[in-house]
Amino acid sequence: MRNVWRPILDRVAPYEAGQPLEVLARELGLPNLVRLSANESPLGPSPHVVDAIRQEAPRVHLYPDGASTALREGLARRLGVGPEQLVVGNGADELLSLIAGAALEPGDEVVVPLPSFEPYTTAAELAGAVVQPSPLAKYETDLDDVRRRVTGRTKVVILCSPHNPAATIIRRVPLLALLDALASDPPLVVLDEAYRDFCDDPEYPDGLSLLARYPRLIVLRTFSKIAGLAGLRVGYAIATGETIERLNRVRAPFNVNRLGQVAALAALEDRDHWERTRAFVIAERAFLARELGRRGYAFPPSHANFLLLHVPNAALVRERLLRAGLLVRDGAAVGFPDHLRISVGTREANQRLLAVLDL
Ligand SMILES: Cc1ncc(COP(=O)(O)O)c(C=O)c1O
Repeated sequence: MRNVWRPILDRVAPYEAGQPLEVLARELGLPNLVRLSANESPLGPSPHVVDAIRQEAPRVHLYPDGASTALREGLARRLGVGPEQLVVGNGADELLSLIAGAALEPGDEVVVPLPSFEPYTTAAELAGAVVQPSPLAKYETDLDDVRRRVTGRTKVVILCSPHNPAATIIRRVPLLALLDALASDPPLVVLDEAYRDFCDDPEYPDGLSLLARYPRLIVLRTFSKIAGLAGLRVGYAIATGETIERLNRVRAPFNVNRLGQVAALAALEDRDHWERTRAFVIAERAFLARELGRRGYAFPPSHANFLLLHVPNAALVRERLLRAGLLVRDGAAVGFPDHLRISVGTREANQRLLAVLDL
């Protein structure tokens, strides 16, 4: 029998995203089930986004602009880069595949902090690359270790800041030290800033400001978190025009749909909603951190819209929360046994969470 499948597929499992929220709510008989396991926005999208989607809906029989031109121009104005320095993806997820598809040959190496956002490893492995995991130093990305793992065969280094699931950041000084150390013959360095808007630490670097000095850098951002557009799938990469041109060669012709493009542009233009979401999450995160700390829970200080809580009997506590209508992520599924990853919710959801933990 002819074997038509690539052997690598035997080692890659389909991404386990869990049941759709609506199905789980129905099955559990919990119509008010709140998902605090996917780091979604507690405020949802801007009303201007909803209007933009409504207005665009009658045109969905027409293919979208394959180059996401208006959105890239809007982003370029906002970020102070050229539109040729941007590529928009079907979520930041797709950009990881584009980078892998453009850069990686079988046997190339990719350095990835471990644990970290699972699709980094999957994208690299599917391209036939060898993943060199760099263990976190407890909750922190260990850049000395990352540097030691870069060899002549390393094509890509992936960094996540704020880190999912640890919620920690890579600070400016150590990041620059790593980039300088690699500067003589640099691999691509992907800096995933999916949660950047929730970080208010003055030592958090803006990846964009480093592009001129480190031309192999690729900064990833997304509308899923701060803009509340997770259901539409819009992310983008910022890099040099040359890097973006390479990524465009492996991109599908109409990779970002019409509704996603207009919604993201409307989200970009509603600065108030953006800032309100940021302030809301930061304030509620502080509330949760204070209340959890008071109850004796340990967790790394969060720079994201979630907390990674140390809970010895995590699976049991997760079950208890689920029965009370709160879905949180078992840390064991994301490389942190004895932890729960809990998204920052509305005040009501956060209070419900604390009440269940108090039982
Ligand atoms: C660190 C990190 N990067 C990227 C993504 C993916 O973002 P998107 O929804 O744009 O695909 C996520 C989603 O949870 C994430 O946690």
